[in-house]
This record gives sequence, structure tokens and C-alpha cells, in this order.
Amino acid sequence: MESSDLLKLIRGIPKAELHLHLEGSFEPELMFEIAHRNNIRLDYNSIESLKKAYKFNNLQEFLDIYYTGAQVLIHERDFFDLTWAYLSKVHSQNVVHVEVFFDPQTHTDRGIAFEVVITGIYKALQKAKEELNISSKLIMSYLRHLSQEEAFKTLESSIPHKEWIDGVGLDSSEMGNPPSKFTEVFKASASHGYKLVAHAGEEGPADYIWEALDLLNVVRIDHGNRCLDDPALIQRLLDGNIALTLCPLSNLELKVIQKMEDHPVAKMLDKGILATIHSDDPAYFGGYMNENYYETAKALNLDETQLMQLAINAFEASWLSPEDKEKHISLVKAYFGH
Ligand code: ADE
Ligand code: ZN
Repeated sequence: MESSDLLKLIRGIPKAELHLHLEGSFEPELMFEIAHRNNIRLDYNSIESLKKAYKFNNLQEFLDIYYTGAQVLIHERDFFDLTWAYLSKVHSQNVVHVEVFFDPQTHTDRGIAFEVVITGIYKALQKAKEELNISSKLIMSYLRHLSQEEAFKTLESSIPHKEWIDGVGLDSSEMGNPPSKFTEVFKASASHGYKLVAHAGEEGPADYIWEALDLLNVVRIDHGNRCLDDPALIQRLLDGNIALTLCPLSNLELKVIQKMEDHPVAKMLDKGILATIHSDDPAYFGGYMNENYYETAKALNLDETQLMQLAINAFEASWLSPEDKEKHISLVKAYFGH
């Protein structure tokens, strides 16, 4: 397919995004604007010099910059503007449903109240429902480089707002911080009605994916690239209909893969795994949903059936009601002439 035809095809697909960190959608232009109005000096004196720093050799190098950028977010309005900018952007890419992460501890550790963070985010999600017809779920992620005790404090802070929160996740520095470190807090989170997901097998080994499934009882794995190392694990993902929320441009930028041609998504689809594609931290990794679909499809020569399957899988793996899943999946199939 011609590149322009492929791009046009991808733009029109109705899409669901299930792996997106709101703090990772913080574009440098908005970061400078918010820093200015909050009287905060950034370490970079221009948008261009900040963007030049976006070169990473691994997850940790990225996280160091990502946490620094998030420090300019202070007021409810800042969290609203961050969330609204992301939703407006993906609306232009025909994303119709999102399940987004936020990292409460990145903010509460700086003295920002949990309520300030979540209220700004929630108001933007509501506005998107009303004005852009984007439905959403909200996932609170525990930072795995911090202790389980700290995660318990975050769980406690979330309870007054639990009507606004659909699930909990686990993110940040993976190596040396296995899922097993958070077994108890995930159990407690489930008892409050939260759904469970965790980043696993991004840089970490297939063992971490097993732990996320067996000890944390997650319903989806964020990333999970390393599952192909382990045939028994592949079978477990198939038996449990466990989705993998993959992020190809993120994997490339963080050197999880050396080139896009090495991305495992096509192999995963071949094996029948519920693989999906998302953007992770689009402001840092050079692309939102359409760019992730496009770069992957181009490098791996994905055909229309595979693209349709990826789009269907994301709705299938979402937390929408069975009726809403079916409605969206029918629209994806109709778009591809099925
Ligand atoms: N936080 C934001 N992006 C992340 C990623 N790709 N992995 C782990 N933690 C993250
Ligand atoms: Zn992520």
C-alpha cells in the first residue's frame, strides 16, 4: 500500500487507547506555558533545547526527564489543561475511547493534594464525554520504585474519589521492582472494586509477567513484550484472554527494540494473542495513536486484516460494557467493509 493510502486508512479507524500516561502527554509548548504562569523556571531555556534532551538509552533516562517535567503541574487547572490537550489531540485522530493512567505519587510527594490532581483530570474527561463524544476510564498507577507502604497511602487517599477511578496500575522503574513487591496493595485495591493492570515485561523478564498474572491478578499486561521468550506464558495469555497493551514507538525510543522491524506485535497476532497498540508517552516518543499504528504497519508490512484485528482487540480488551464493545467493534468492521 502507498504510504499516503496507509495513513489515510489508519486515520479513519475508530480507535481505543488503553495505555497512556497523562504526564507523558505533556507537550513542551504546554509545559513552558504552565511553568510560566506558575512562576517556575525550567532547566531548559527554550522549547527546542528541551526537545533536544529527549534522547533516551533506557527507561530510567526517560523517567528522570518525565518526572522533572511533571513538577510544573500545581493547580487543578494545570491538570485539566494537560488532560484536555491530550483528549483534543486524540479526538483529531479518531480515538473514541480512552483508558488513561495518572501517577498520583509524582504529585502528592511534592505536596500537591490528591484531590487537586484528580479533580482537574476528571473535569477534562467529563468535558470530553460531553463535547467530543470520547468515553473514558481512569487508572491510578502506583510508582514501583517506591515502597508498598507508600502505595497503601495512595490507595487510602483515593477512596474519597473512588467513583472517579476505575482501576489501578503499576509503573515506573521496572528492573529490581518486581510485581511481587506489591501483592498486598493490589489485593486491597481489588477489595475496593478497582480493576487491576500492571506494566510488566517492558525491560523486565517474562518472570515479571507471570508475577503480575499470578500474584497481582491483573486483567491486562501493559507492554509484555518479553512474553515471546516463554511458550508456557504465551499459552497462559491465550487461555486467560489477557491483553497486552503494546507501545511500539515507546519501545523504539527506550531501546527495548533496536528497530521497528523487530517489534513483536505481528508475531503476537499470529499466535492469537490479544495484542493492542497505544502511545504510552506520546509527547516524549514522537507520536500519538496514528503514528504508532503507521510506523508499526509500515515496518512490519501489516495488512488490513491485521490492522482491523488490532483495532478490534483494543475495544475487546477495554473496560466498556459488552454492549458498548459490540457497538464499537461493529463500527471497526464496517469501516473495513466487513
Ligand atoms: N511511566 C510512564 N511511562 C512509563 C513506561 N513506559 N514504563 C514504565 N513507567 C512509565
Ligand atoms: Zn506505560
